[in-house]
Amino acid sequence: MKKHLVALMFALLPALGFAEGHDLQLDKVDIDLTDKAAMQDGLRTFANYCMGCHGAQFQRYERVATDLGIPEDVMMENIVFTGAKIGDHMKNGMHAADAKGWFGAAPPDLTLVARVRGNDWLYSYLRSFYEDPARPWGVNNKVFPNVGMPNVLAPLQGRQVIGCKQIQAVEGGKKQYDPLTGTPITHEACDQLTVLPKTGSLSEEQFDEKVKNLVTFLAYSANPVKLESQRIGTYVLLYLAFFFVFAYLLKREYWKDVH
Ligand code: HEC
Repeated sequence: MKKHLVALMFALLPALGFAEGHDLQLDKVDIDLTDKAAMQDGLRTFANYCMGCHGAQFQRYERVATDLGIPEDVMMENIVFTGAKIGDHMKNGMHAADAKGWFGAAPPDLTLVARVRGNDWLYSYLRSFYEDPARPWGVNNKVFPNVGMPNVLAPLQGRQVIGCKQIQAVEGGKKQYDPLTGTPITHEACDQLTVLPKTGSLSEEQFDEKVKNLVTFLAYSANPVKLESQRIGTYVLLYLAFFFVFAYLLKREYWKDVH
């Protein structure tokens, strides 16, 4: 009997996965883990807007400062607010039990979230909050329905609402235009997110960039060794290039007398 249950669970797994990913269209984001300016900006956003609730407790401030090329005093002045020391882990100031009472779910640690959820998911999630008066915080999320997190980036993004609107038709990945007039072909689609104009401090492009930088920081945080391997990789290539010169000279020396 047990065996059958297990078999059934495995048989259902793909179906569950499909159900979850079915009508969920994630926006793609191209993350560059060598872009230190992006990661620094992301770290700043993380400290200012996320660390009140979330920690990155497998990460130390000191290591992050070193990896991202931030001098220690700048790091202490601009990033470390919680009275922590440079060698401390990046913990948040909230007790998990309190948080669960306030939000219905404790804010999870975000050190590894980029590996668990993926960059595209994070990028989409943070841009997909919309106004929903039925929810405790007045917002819902298209990527994470009925989420317990408030829309903390709303002052930057502005007020986002969901509804029906005219969008440009796309076929085979190409935007469609009327062949005669050249005007875009549109059709009405629902469940579309729209930011009300002039309600946030950033434009839509600037906000996307802000979130992209934040995701870049989270992607680094989930895999700090990647920066290190890239650095070491450069040395290895330099060494090989250097070594090649000697190998070549040696070869010439050996073959000099062979005709
Ligand atoms: C006011 C507290 C609060 C703040 C500030 C906050 N969050 Fe959250 N966050 C939560 C709570 C609570 C949850 C759990 C929601 C749930 O499970 O329904 C959550 C969930 C998440 C999740 C989903 C994690 C998962 O895998 O389920 C991500 C990602 C996330 N937050 C990112 C962020 C980022 C990035 C910021 C900063 C821009 C941020 N949060 C700021 C409270 C907060």
